[in-house]
Amino acid sequence: MYRIGEPESKRVEKLLESGEMFRYGKAGECDLFEAEWGKRLGGAQVRMTTSGTASLYCALVGMKIGPGDSVMIPACTYMATALAVVAAGAIPVIVEVDESMTISPEDIEKRIQPHTKAIIPVHMWGLPCNMDAIMEIADRHGILVLEDACQAVGGGYEGRMLGAIGHVGAFSFNYFKNMTSGEGGAFATRDESVFARGSVSTDCCSYYWNAEDHRPDEQFAGLNYRATEVSGAILNAQLERIDEMLDRMRGHKRTLLKVGEEVGLRSITNHSVDYECGTHVGFVFENEEKARAFASSMKETVGKAFLPIDTGRHVYTRWDPILRKQGAHHPSLNPFNLAENKALNIEYSEDMCPNSLDILSRSVLIGMHPDNDRGKVDEIAEAIRTAAQKV
Ligand SMILES: Cc1ncc(COP(=O)(O)O)c(C=O)c1O
Repeated sequence: MYRIGEPESKRVEKLLESGEMFRYGKAGECDLFEAEWGKRLGGAQVRMTTSGTASLYCALVGMKIGPGDSVMIPACTYMATALAVVAAGAIPVIVEVDESMTISPEDIEKRIQPHTKAIIPVHMWGLPCNMDAIMEIADRHGILVLEDACQAVGGGYEGRMLGAIGHVGAFSFNYFKNMTSGEGGAFATRDESVFARGSVSTDCCSYYWNAEDHRPDEQFAGLNYRATEVSGAILNAQLERIDEMLDRMRGHKRTLLKVGEEVGLRSITNHSVDYECGTHVGFVFENEEKARAFASSMKETVGKAFLPIDTGRHVYTRWDPILRKQGAHHPSLNPFNLAENKALNIEYSEDMCPNSLDILSRSVLIGMHPDNDRGKVDEIAEAIRTAAQKV
């Protein structure tokens, strides 16, 4: 989303000239990207897919999540996180977020049940979750962690890459993400079995194309979420841009956080300002009225400022198929109807996470952009000073 241009065009042009459009049968663009992304993630195996949603689903299948299991997800994430859990046959348990806009470790602890099999911390708006606390809880209870790093591609947490801290990480490369091939995704893991099963889920013939996947014990009827060489080519060009882009935005964010502090604003909780994506600066207010006054002043001057509560399908109250328990296209396949899941006794209501609704409606996020120059950052700083006087 941030930058796309000549390097991507040249790489795709070269691919088209070669005519080598299928990802298997040679060491092509997808192979190259998977190897390179895995290296950046500290030695993980990476499987490209067609989307972030497909990556989450294939990762869950790889982790052997299914009927009888519940999976914790935050009250604030794009609906696809919840839908991937249901697609795998399991049941999502919705957990409060805290002032970091990410899943609350305190609330995870409160909602753990014997059937809790996994947690999906989501690094929303490029803001890392409190991964130390989450991993500690998960290890203590023997629960798996799948990081949804769809909105945090290329970001880090205290020196480690997001998506490489939990047992598995999932990424989206759709148009709105830090790296994009229009649509696309990938999952990454160090666990051989998760990788093999996740790969079968990504490509029903995975074990045919990949010699290393010839493991009958890990085979089942998968589908096809196979990535294209065009995606691979674009993403290989995008790899050249990502570090510098995020570094610039982190710098801008640090400057603006200092300005906020000078004028008495309270920042959202940032878990790793030196390593995160730097894509959003956030402030928390006493009440919604003040948050709205601040956001409208920002919008009048520099545009981009929003309340997370206003972002539609990012808030659990707008996940209609989940709240209505419409978990599949056919009633017999609907996880909410399965005997294995009935014992979980999960109920949803619009007021089940009151703290999240409160926090999301009195916070404001401001989007950064790597093309912002010093003048633009000064302009945003001035807008923050002006808006702060209105609350
Ligand atoms: C947090 C989160 N998870 C999952 C997804 C799904 O990614 P995709 O749109 O590539 O399927 C998105 C996409 O917006 C997302 O923001």
